[in-house]
Amino acid sequence: MKSNNIISFRLPIIVCLLTCGLLYCFSYLIERSFEKFSIQQNVTELNSVITSIERELCYYSPDDNRDEFLQNLLLILTGHHRLFVYIIDDAGKIVYRTRGPNLAIALKSAVFEKIIADHTTAISDMNNSSYRIAASKLIIDEDKQYITIVAVGRDLQLEFISRLRHGLGILIAIACILALVGSLITIYFTQKPINRLIKKIERINLKSINYRISTSSVPIKYVSLVKAFNNMLNRMEDVFHRQRNFTADIAHEMRTPITNLTTQTQIVLNNARSTYEYREILYSNLEEYERMSQMISDMLFLAQADNRQLVPNLIDIDLHKMILMMCEYFEPLTDEKNITFSIEGNCSHIQGDKMMLGRAISNILSNAIRYTPENEKIIIALSQITDKRVKIIISNPGNKIDSKDLPHLFDRFYRVDESRHRDGNKNSSGAGIGLAIVKSIIETHKGSIYVESDDQSTRFVINLPTIN
Ligand SMILES: Nc1ncnc2c1ncn2[C@@H]1O[C@H](COP(=O)(O)OP(=O)(O)O)[C@@H](O)[C@H]1O
Ligand SMILES: [Mg+2]
Repeated sequence: MKSNNIISFRLPIIVCLLTCGLLYCFSYLIERSFEKFSIQQNVTELNSVITSIERELCYYSPDDNRDEFLQNLLLILTGHHRLFVYIIDDAGKIVYRTRGPNLAIALKSAVFEKIIADHTTAISDMNNSSYRIAASKLIIDEDKQYITIVAVGRDLQLEFISRLRHGLGILIAIACILALVGSLITIYFTQKPINRLIKKIERINLKSINYRISTSSVPIKYVSLVKAFNNMLNRMEDVFHRQRNFTADIAHEMRTPITNLTTQTQIVLNNARSTYEYREILYSNLEEYERMSQMISDMLFLAQADNRQLVPNLIDIDLHKMILMMCEYFEPLTDEKNITFSIEGNCSHIQGDKMMLGRAISNILSNAIRYTPENEKIIIALSQITDKRVKIIISNPGNKIDSKDLPHLFDRFYRVDESRHRDGNKNSSGAGIGLAIVKSIIETHKGSIYVESDDQSTRFVINLPTIN
């Protein structure tokens, strides 16, 4: 929950910082372009005034046309707000000066010569005000020379820029607060259904493992998440039930032979028996012991497979030869039902554990014999899929296995017809772990196995790599 909160705050803060950064850059650009524009405006104004004044100075004669000159200057300066002019001749005599800052000070400044030489402008602070100044030196007929200094006040522009900066600052602050609040509200509303979902998930425990979250109660974007979660619950519930049944099944499987043995022993002890009878009973008991011992060793085998302790002892195996030998081994059983084996096709040799693969194939074959009706044929087809993979299909005729049972056939203690096999008839079947062992062996060999069944036959398809 804590990390959830961190995430919910991190995003608004990022949005807020981004908005802030973006607006800051934006306002910086506005400010800069306004500043550039006003400098440009000032420079153009100063240059045009200087040019006009110089034009007038060319015809200026202090004795002849001073009045006309002054009138023309006034005309030039009309309309220029906060513009100041200072003109002196080569003798240093003031030809004209407007009221305002003492521009003579600028004459003494270090930049003055540079302004004249480069035709640039400079900023000068006088009487607590800031001015942009331009200057020119006009030489007429080599004996007459005028220095003109023109200054334009920058205070209004500076104030405007400062107000603009202040206004933009407030705008940025407001935008950031709005972005923060907006993204917090958005996150709150998007997280609300997720939080509801989390609460529902938190309530699920082993007792309520069959509970499923309804997809209609969540926004459309979370439907696939809920479906995936429900599917995960299905799988977990399945594993959980199998685990629970597994314990019950072991207990049940052990109880049946032990009850048989106990009952038989009690009956025998009730009366004195002949040696022959004792021998018979001990033989019968031996069968039960063997069954129990087989089941325990099967369980140990599966436990080893679960813990990945099964290490196949790899040798070169001729599958065709191995299967042929197995068919011969099962002959007494097949003869009883007049069932025949047919081995079709062939495949390359593979690397595998002979004992394990023999056990796997014999488990499938013994099932096949059990479920094949009399006088029928079991087909074992070998084929090469690629250079590195072979396929074995063991198919037997018989009743179709229901499609709902097929995915569970390899589960431990799973038997299609429970009642048929719970009758204690020793010959009818094992404990239902034969195919689970087959699957473990095939998977230990990095192969795969599946089963398909229809009205004609049931087929176990094994896919094995040639080299492990
Ligand atoms: N060839 C087959 N034809 C029909 N059903 C089969 C076949 N092989 C296995 N089954 C079904 O799969 C179940 C599980 O088989 P298995 O794990 O070998 O257990 P078991 O042989 O001890 O019953 C069997 O009980 C049976 O219902
Ligand atoms: Mg079996």
